Amino acid sequence: MATERLPIISGNWKMNNNHFEAIQCVQKLAYLLQKEDFDAVEVTVHPPFTDLRSMQTLIDADQLRIRLGAQNCHPEEKGAFTGEVSPVFLAKLGVHFVIVGHSERREHFGETDEFVARKVAAVQKHGMTPILCVGETLAERESGVALDKVRHQVRVALEKRSSDQVKSMVIAYEPIWAIGTGKNATATDAQEVVAAIREEVAAVVSRPAAQSVRIQYGGSVKAGTAAEFMRQPDIDGLLVGGASLDPTEFARIVQYRRHAY
Ligand code: PGA
Repeated sequence: MATERLPIISGNWKMNNNHFEAIQCVQKLAYLLQKEDFDAVEVTVHPPFTDLRSMQTLIDADQLRIRLGAQNCHPEEKGAFTGEVSPVFLAKLGVHFVIVGHSERREHFGETDEFVARKVAAVQKHGMTPILCVGETLAERESGVALDKVRHQVRVALEKRSSDQVKSMVIAYEPIWAIGTGKNATATDAQEVVAAIREEVAAVVSRPAAQSVRIQYGGSVKAGTAAEFMRQPDIDGLLVGGASLDPTEFARIVQYRRHAY
């Protein structure tokens, strides 16, 4: 029997919302969500770096149960890396979760599997939780190598991590062809890949790690589709881009149990 895994739903704002807009967005989200929602689901928001300080202040002042996340970080703690942000700085700002290896970073900024693995280690070293993104392109899916690609990404990112380290992590399966396109994977297709990811974690790390690690689905998730993904046995959460910019829509996603239709 699988270990109980607390669902986790994350809003990846990407390069949207300045710090004023971020405050409005999170205040509205906090107003829409109830205690029972936070008891049932861990909710994280990932604003741009420039919003983090304002978010930290708001979350602390209003004692919100929304967890603060970042979208990226550099693997080094400090040094001559112009324009980069250290995991030390993020930890200091009350960031709990850091997305690493998002497909947009891999694609537009040339991040390799090895570089992503270094970020996973750096985020954990500073007491934060990585959300490791993996996923295949449309061409890879059509040529039948989707599972190989995703398993390889998981292997390289996790092979040097301990079982306990992997237990506390989050992995996000995001088929690249489904991101921002309005075309989501079917829930059964997503379940198949997520189950394969869990098997790969068991093979590379340990069976207990595979049972505890939380795995999200991401790619064009909306309030109307959230529940069917969450019904899948291996899908523990959702990584939401576009739909997380609208607090009403995002709140409905978090409340997927109530809005299942
Ligand atoms: P989307 O983005 O929900 O807009 O498809 C998901 C993501 O990239 O994390």
